[in-house]
Amino acid sequence: MSRILIKGGTVVTATETMRADVLIEGEKVAALLREGFDLPEAAEVIDASGRFVFPGAVDAHTHMEIPFGAATSKDTFETGTRAAAWGGTTTIIDFPIQMKGDSLLRSFEETMAKASGSSAIDFGFHQIIGDVNEQSLAELEDVFAEGVTSYKLFTAYPGVYYSTDAEVMQVMQWASGNGSTVLMHAENGSAIDLLREQAIARGDTAPLAHALTRPAAMEGEAAHRTILLAELTGAAIYIVHISAKQVVDEIAAARSRGKPVFGETCPQYLYLELSMLDRGFEGAKFVCSPPLRDPAEGHQHALWQALANNDLQVVATDHCPFDFEGQKTLGRDDFTKIPNGLPVVEHRFPLMVHAALAEGRFTLNRMVDISATAPAKLFGLYPQKGTIAVGSDADIAIVDPEASDTLSAATHHMNVDYSCFEGMTLTGKVETVISRGRVLVTDGEWRGSRTHGRYLKRGLNQFL
Ligand code: URP
Ligand code: ZN
Ligand code: ZN
Repeated sequence: MSRILIKGGTVVTATETMRADVLIEGEKVAALLREGFDLPEAAEVIDASGRFVFPGAVDAHTHMEIPFGAATSKDTFETGTRAAAWGGTTTIIDFPIQMKGDSLLRSFEETMAKASGSSAIDFGFHQIIGDVNEQSLAELEDVFAEGVTSYKLFTAYPGVYYSTDAEVMQVMQWASGNGSTVLMHAENGSAIDLLREQAIARGDTAPLAHALTRPAAMEGEAAHRTILLAELTGAAIYIVHISAKQVVDEIAAARSRGKPVFGETCPQYLYLELSMLDRGFEGAKFVCSPPLRDPAEGHQHALWQALANNDLQVVATDHCPFDFEGQKTLGRDDFTKIPNGLPVVEHRFPLMVHAALAEGRFTLNRMVDISATAPAKLFGLYPQKGTIAVGSDADIAIVDPEASDTLSAATHHMNVDYSCFEGMTLTGKVETVISRGRVLVTDGEWRGSRTHGRYLKRGLNQFL
């Protein structure tokens, strides 16, 4: 059995900060050794002096190789999981997509076939339900048995993924009381579609119109409605990729009523803003849904505050990368044809480290919580994932807080031709990344393999 000793670092979990050496045996953490203990012999010693030793991060929301309109997101499981690992993320949860008229189980099996044997890090799945009907509701039992314990529904994208309130309720009734979680993409799709049609009709075709036709109030409205549907049915609900302060308010209010309501935001909603879409067609690089918001309206401030005080529990990425040339450009004359989504998977964890270290947005422990521990608990992976403890998977990210890193398409590992964080310099640099006892990244060198990642059969929501 292989042995690695991480020596001299400061171990940071969601609840503790301690000077300890970490002994890894095989795929697991075997011991945390405080000062004064005899150090065991190890085949490989990693000197972590002056470094933070964090749990490998858990990205609860990625989209590798998914179709969006006429394009397919550029990162495959192979390239996307490798890029994730470069940034300290050792687990992703991605999405099989059941399209209209399709079988849920077939979509699960198809995505499993794409990811298995092609992923550098461990992966699980949330199931997208694009067609709520008798068959898909029956097939929920099958994917549940396979460890898919969360399901994404949309009040956006009419005609594609959109579900009516009654369809949302049917899934919530199924999920209620069985420990699973309903994920909601909360935007009022039909109101937004009207605004989009009207914008195109008056010749408003540039990327900025994408954002202006998806008002924050319509995100708040959909969050309000679906939270009430969840309350009515007793289901646990997790609102994904929150961009608007109205949604934060809805979640905070529901949580203060004691309801199992959870929320996720993403680095793009914290660090990027509406004005970036107003750069002519270059603005297409920033088209995602919900859209980037205007800081003057207080959205970013509300999101940061909610992460610090636990009104929001998770930062994920919604990683869904499209090249600017050839993919985003599909919408050069019509913003509705720009594929939605941004490349983020590599940078989420470093951005959160920067937020804690350089900006003091929250403590390092809270940073670990929102980046690793809370998503692991919410999606039934804790303590296998999301912490450093005896018996946990040896998933670790070692960060040098004295180093810095400048983000750029020229140096990133995502398979996409631009960076939406181009030129941003971060405090702290991910130096070494370990997944299940295997060193993936060290000293700027890739030592991982496309077949290392394993499917994670997930348990139930551990906050319920
Ligand atoms: O713009 C986005 N968010 N693209 C990915 C699909 C989704 O809605 O999560
Ligand atoms: Zn979504
Ligand atoms: Zn998404």
